[in-house]
This record gives sequence, structure tokens and C-alpha cells, in this order.
Amino acid sequence: MRKILFGGTGNFFFTKIINAFKYFLTRKNKLLKLKYLPLSMDIEPTTGCNFRCTMCQVSSPDFEARNMDLKTFKTVIDQNKQLIKIKLQGMGEPFVNKHLFKMIKYANSNGISVEFVTNGGLLNDENINKILKSEISRITISIDGATKSTFENIRIKSNFEQVILNAKKLSKAIKENKYKTDFEAICLVQKNNFDEIEKISDLCNQIGFHTLHFQVQLTGWGKEDWEQVNYKKDINYSDLGIQDRFKKLKTEKSNSNFKIIVLEENLLNFSKQCSYPFENPYLSATGKIIPCCMIADENVINFGSIKEENFLSIWNSEKYQSFRKDIINNSLENYCKNCYEEFRTKS
Ligand SMILES: C[S@@+](CC[C@H](N)C(=O)[O-])C[C@H]1O[C@@H](n2cnc3c(N)ncnc32)[C@H](O)[C@@H]1O
Ligand code: SF4
Ligand code: SF4
Repeated sequence: MRKILFGGTGNFFFTKIINAFKYFLTRKNKLLKLKYLPLSMDIEPTTGCNFRCTMCQVSSPDFEARNMDLKTFKTVIDQNKQLIKIKLQGMGEPFVNKHLFKMIKYANSNGISVEFVTNGGLLNDENINKILKSEISRITISIDGATKSTFENIRIKSNFEQVILNAKKLSKAIKENKYKTDFEAICLVQKNNFDEIEKISDLCNQIGFHTLHFQVQLTGWGKEDWEQVNYKKDINYSDLGIQDRFKKLKTEKSNSNFKIIVLEENLLNFSKQCSYPFENPYLSATGKIIPCCMIADENVINFGSIKEENFLSIWNSEKYQSFRKDIINNSLENYCKNCYEEFRTKS
């Protein structure tokens, strides 16, 4: 248990415990100036990608490919020894950054658990061997279809057979080496793949994933043009018929070795408010702090750069506090409205 929570080494154990204690003690008070630092953070190793998925802003012609340098990564870790977990993933494919495994090692040496989500396209033998030599608490592969045409029509530039073969190879390596990780799949459900959710479950079970997550709402990245495109792809999860189909799927296809989860925590409304600005910041590849992975673009909004300021002063800056206040008051900026039921249903 301690190994999962504190990245294996137990380093900075007391720093983490004291911060976690402050978090649990004050979190419910909805303060604007927080008495704790985040327990988890999303860190974007790169915005470069080998795919061009139809719903992803990486596919915008003007989206720039950038890699995080090791110095920026170490700076944020050095200023955040209290972290329990990081997700090394943002816009882009983590394996594109050649420093990825050095980042994992550095985080682990600071007692931080690491997880990432990958498109599976670059999971070659070399990367699988490197994974086996690292400590990664959770590895997730995006599986957006059970057939070549569905998968490749969403995940442009991908090769379905290659991704599935890579996933199977990693699954085998995990089993044979008794490698301790949560091996998971995620499917972003959209009109184009909804018909395949049962087949996707069977495929993921057959590959050997421990868990399959269904994400049921697309983000528009806080941008009007992407909202227009992605709204049209969304299934209507508030439809009870659709919810029943997921319930049936979970009952019929989950078992003790294979769990199916429908991700409902990102479905927000005025009484179920967003928690990101209070607990989980997002660090862009260039070093800017952004509210969350639903925006994931520093040009939409950012709170400052850790290349210029200490993380703590950004975390409790006036801009971050004002953002928290807007969330508490349900006085949302346009880039947040896409997440809230009240605004989605009106559009
Ligand atoms: C941005 S990708 C980065 C990691 C890796 N490149 C991948 O595709 O798994 C992380 C996750 O975001 C999902 N995603 C892409 N576009 C999305 C959107 N518009 N709304 C919500 N999730 C999205 C992907 O399907 C993937 O599971
Ligand atoms: S979803 Fe992942 S694989 Fe697809 S374009 Fe975006 S970053 Fe690349
Ligand atoms: S409400 Fe705003 S901060 Fe929260 S997840 Fe949505 S875009 Fe991010």
C-alpha cells in the first residue's frame, strides 16, 4: 500500500503525509488561498504525437509540437516533494519525449508514483524493456475501436493491428515478469464507436487489461471551434437507454480479472462542481500551469510559468484564487462551460 502511495522509495514520506493531512483537514472549506499543495499533478512531457485523432486538439494545424526539457521537469518536482502521484501525459504521446524514462526515475527517487496514458503506437520492444526496468504504477492504452475501420477512422495515422499487437506484447511481458502495475485501457466513447462498446470490452479483456474505462463526454478544449466539432461526436449520456446499455455491459462483461468503469466524475453541474483548481494542476510542456487536462492549452488560460516563478506563488496567486472563486460561485468562464450540464444542454 505504502509502495503504491509513495512511488516505491518512501522518500519525502513525512513531507507528503503532512501535506496530505492539511489537504484532508481543509479541503471541504473551499478556501481560495489553499493551505496545502497539490497531491497529484498532470505533467505534459510533450505535445508531439505520431497520430492525429479527429477529436484531439493536437490535430489542429497550428498546434505546436514541443518537448519538456529535463530541467523544467526537475524544477517542478524539486518544488513539489509533497506530490504523491503524477500523470506523465498531456496533449501528445509521452514516448515522443526522449527523456520520458529519466523523468519517471527522477519522480520515483522523490517518492512519487508515476502513471501515463499512451496511444500504444510506439510501444516497441525497446520501450517495453524500459518499462520493465522502471516503476510505473499505472499504464493506460487508448483503445477507441474494436475494428480496424472504427479505430483508424478516429485515430488518424494509427495502425490498428500494430497497436493491438503492442498492447498484447506489453500484457505478456507484464505477466511473465510479474511486473507490478495497473494495466488499463481507456475508450473515449463517441457516436462513431458507441456501437462497438461490447466488442471493445471483449477485445480489452482478451488483451489482458485489468480495467477498461469508458469516458462518455468529449471536451472542446475550451475553444469554440473544437466545441462545435466535438459536440456533434458526443453520445447523449443523459439518455437512460444509453446508461442502461453500459449497466448491462458492466454486469455481463466484468469479472474478477477484468473491471469495467464508466467515468462519470467529469460530468459536472452546479451542485457537482469542478475540483481541478483545488487539487490537480496541469503543467504544460513549456512550463506553464493550466487549470486542467480538459483545456490543456496554455493559450486558453494559464496561471504563470514555473520557469519564472516558484510553484507555490503560482498555486496561491490572485489569478488562481479568482479562478477558484468563479468555480465556487458557478460564475464560469466560457472555456469551462463545456464541462457543465447546465450549459451543454442549452447549446
Ligand atoms: C490527449 S491523449 C494523450 C495520450 C495519448 N496520446 C493517447 O492518445 O492515449 C489522452 C486521452 O485523451 C483522450 N482524448 C482525446 N481527445 C479528447 C477529447 N476531445 N475529449 C476527451 N478526451 C479526449 C484520448 O482518447 C486519450 O485517451
Ligand atoms: S488523442 Fe493522443 S494519440 Fe490522438 S492525437 Fe491526441 S495526443 Fe495524439
Ligand atoms: S470546469 Fe474548467 S477547470 Fe474544471 S475541468 Fe472543466 S475546463 Fe477544467
